[in-house]
Amino acid sequence: MIKKTIEIGYTEYSDIKELPEKQQNLIFAARKAAKNAYAPYSHFKVGAALLMEDNSVISGNNQENASSPVGSCAERTALYWANANFPEKKILAIAVTSLDKGGKKAKHLSPCGLCRQSMLESQQRFSSPIKVFIDNRDHILEIPDIESLLPLSFSNTSM
Ligand code: THU
Repeated sequence: MIKKTIEIGYTEYSDIKELPEKQQNLIFAARKAAKNAYAPYSHFKVGAALLMEDNSVISGNNQENASSPVGSCAERTALYWANANFPEKKILAIAVTSLDKGGKKAKHLSPCGLCRQSMLESQQRFSSPIKVFIDNRDHILEIPDIESLLPLSFSNTSM
């Protein structure tokens, strides 16, 4: 028997101004997208923004449905739109943020398992790491790639 440990490294910023302008703008785009989310059931609005290899930004938000499994998270709304319209463009980073009923960000937002799996597919499609910025109430987290969010994952290399 061998016991093993997986460690992930990430960076925490206490102020958005600590980030380069391009990444600040990505987070601002996610914040803007969150405002347009359709979340009449959870009242939890989420915005996501993708930084593409040509420096363009594509955003999306959660889209809920009376039949709850039909709804989509912000991350997948943005990812699928990007992949559908720009199948050749690499995605360099994704920023995610939230807005609760009172207009506050979550203390600890975290992409769900489905979105992690979906982001992993995009990352592997282009063989290039996708950085994740999580815009929480009191800090911003920068996670270097999707494997860090989904260790021991199932992927095309598992088959
Ligand atoms: N949600 C997202 O859009 N992204 C996340 O990272 C977490 C959860 C959405 C799904 C649902 O519309 C609402 O937040 C509450 O779960």
